[in-house]
Amino acid sequence: MIADTTEQPLLEGRNVSKYFGGLAAVNNVDFAVCPGEIVGLVGPNGSGKTTLFDCLSRLQKIDSGQILFKGQDVTRARPYQIARMGLARTFQVIRVYRKMTVLKNMLISHQWKDRSILRMLQPSHVNTERRARELLDFLQIAHLTDAQAGHLSGGQRRLLEIGMALMPDPDIMLLDEATSGVNPTLIETIKDRLRVLNAQGKTFLLIEHNINFIVDLCSRVYVLNHGEKLAEGTPQEIIENEAVIDAYFGS
Ligand SMILES: Nc1ncnc2c1ncn2[C@@H]1O[C@H](COP(=O)(O)OP(=O)(O)OP(=O)(O)O)[C@@H](O)[C@H]1O
Ligand SMILES: [Mg+2]
Repeated sequence: MIADTTEQPLLEGRNVSKYFGGLAAVNNVDFAVCPGEIVGLVGPNGSGKTTLFDCLSRLQKIDSGQILFKGQDVTRARPYQIARMGLARTFQVIRVYRKMTVLKNMLISHQWKDRSILRMLQPSHVNTERRARELLDFLQIAHLTDAQAGHLSGGQRRLLEIGMALMPDPDIMLLDEATSGVNPTLIETIKDRLRVLNAQGKTFLLIEHNINFIVDLCSRVYVLNHGEKLAEGTPQEIIENEAVIDAYFGS
């Protein structure tokens, strides 16, 4: 999808900082993701990527700065509020209910995210199940609908987690290492499905260590190092940036 970067950002961070004791895990980071973009967030281990996702999905309070979503200040929003506004995320360590079936995982994730009493009282279960089945089909794991989630491969579980995040039909998805522990074939499946979702209007912010994935999907990339924004640019600019190469491979 061709993103309009002149538009108001969908998600924006201004001078975001998060400390753990004396450690600045995220330090004065500015960024913006516009509607329709696929933006990468990269950086060496421990550079603050997941912490920034935790701040954006409101699982962590920030110490200073501002977070805006759809132009609204959500710096103090609760996780369920920002989820309802249309932000979904996945986790670096996959969170699925291993003893439950794939379908049950999809249905439960929908219930957690939709806490509205009125919606829960509506006879919408049929629609919810239909949506879950359609998404599993779209993600090419429909044959696993009745399998226990714990029996899935790493890649199949990543696809399930993406499906769970898709249940409430979010506008932006924050995916934390969606290719980690995934075999090359399923990495291609994930890439292809994200492309289709993006063409349908979904915006993405991707934490990734797989540089090919970033190059193939992202129009822009932010690089964190020691909690600070080290660089931003196109994937090509980033992989040629001396400071970035040094952060990854330097002493
Ligand atoms: N809950 C926490 N309490 C204390 N320190 C934390 C906590 N979470 C993260 N940190 C520290 O904050 C820094 C950033 O960690 P974070 O997990 O955000 O990095 P990351 O870029 O996601 O790394 P990786 O690529 O390994 O996943 C690290 O030094 C980490 O040890
Ligand atoms: Mg991380």
